[in-house]
Amino acid sequence: MRKVEVRLGSNSYNICVGSGLLIQTARQLKENGFAGKLVIITNPIVKRLYGNALKQGLAREGFKVTVLQVPDGEEQKSLEVAGRLYNELTDFYCERTTPILALGGGVIGDLTGFVAATYLRGVPLIQIPTTLLAQVDSSIGGKVAVNHGRLKNKIGAFYQPRLVISDISTLRTLPTKEFIGGLAEVIKYAVIRDEEFFTYLERNLDKIKSLDEGALEEIVFRVAKIKAAIVEEDEKDLGLRNILNYGHTIGHAIESASDFKVEHGEAIAIGMLAEGIISNKLGILDKNELIRLKGIIQRADLTTELPNLEVEKIIQAIKHDKKILRGKIRFILPKTIGKVFITDEVSPSLIEQVLVSWNEET
Ligand SMILES: NC(=O)c1ccc[n+]([C@@H]2O[C@H](COP(=O)([O-])OP(=O)(O)OC[C@H]3O[C@@H](n4cnc5c(N)ncnc54)[C@H](O)[C@@H]3O)[C@@H](O)[C@H]2O)c1
Repeated sequence: MRKVEVRLGSNSYNICVGSGLLIQTARQLKENGFAGKLVIITNPIVKRLYGNALKQGLAREGFKVTVLQVPDGEEQKSLEVAGRLYNELTDFYCERTTPILALGGGVIGDLTGFVAATYLRGVPLIQIPTTLLAQVDSSIGGKVAVNHGRLKNKIGAFYQPRLVISDISTLRTLPTKEFIGGLAEVIKYAVIRDEEFFTYLERNLDKIKSLDEGALEEIVFRVAKIKAAIVEEDEKDLGLRNILNYGHTIGHAIESASDFKVEHGEAIAIGMLAEGIISNKLGILDKNELIRLKGIIQRADLTTELPNLEVEKIIQAIKHDKKILRGKIRFILPKTIGKVFITDEVSPSLIEQVLVSWNEET
């Protein structure tokens, strides 16, 4: 098992990464000072795969465990579902010191995190992510939220977990499309921060796609380290943490212009490539680097095809994006592989040009 420490003063915590960690959860909890009662929040799919065994393992070690379930799906990230969970926690006499374990992907992690942050003004949160996206991204850094009306992820808090346990063996049961979607975020981390890691991905992509445990542990560990370093510098997303939005300005616009028919990972892949092309057109990103970027996206089985959407609809969605600052559109663009910069100097006409001539550009 490898550990990454997220150093945030009194809110510091460890991220444990390795294979077969779920069965060691009781030991990890005891080492972090937890005993007695605890709650697991999960969904039926993950409960069947891992929840029952986790519960039994914890019970054997003397924990008194209650499992609460929410149905699968993004729509469960709501105030209504959070309200139902508050009632269930109350029925279970959950106290300020009772830890809540979020067992599942980003949906369960965000929702459970929101509930943990708000119930009794905050109870200990343990993230046990079981998707690649959750292991490399959503379980780290303390952004917890629900959706509300048109506000996606906007009702929430910064609430750091007390511990993250990323058992990479859980990725074996993940549907391929979810795994590939998570790879888009892995590539993002390499592009924004670590050229050497990008080269590692280029050399080991086949191993990663065949779910080689050594390679999976390496990518989850390395991304956790990168994210931890960014969060340590900018916990509340007021500056540096913005770079995590690379690929997301155009990516989110594509998701929203397609009424969320285009998968998140696919949209981010197109966004990363589009923002690479924009950087190249501005004379910043070298053509060879752009070719490497496109190559890794394709080899990861992510699309580089622009979905059949009106360009104007995408542009309008970009303009409505949350990253518009004082009327300007904010972009995170690659300078080289491993370094990005933040700019609001990209004109809508350049974006349009890149999208309209997509097939020639790519
Ligand atoms: N908090 C953050 O910083 C942050 C960052 C990125 C994304 N997010 C959020 O994360 C969510 C997306 O997360 P996600 O991609 O993990 O989706 P998800 O939680 O919906 O999980 C994807 C699917 O995989 C299933 N699943 C989970 N683990 C499994 C396993 N080991 N084997 C088989 N099936 C499994 C789930 O039941 C679900 O059907 C979004 O709501 C997004 O807003 C949050």
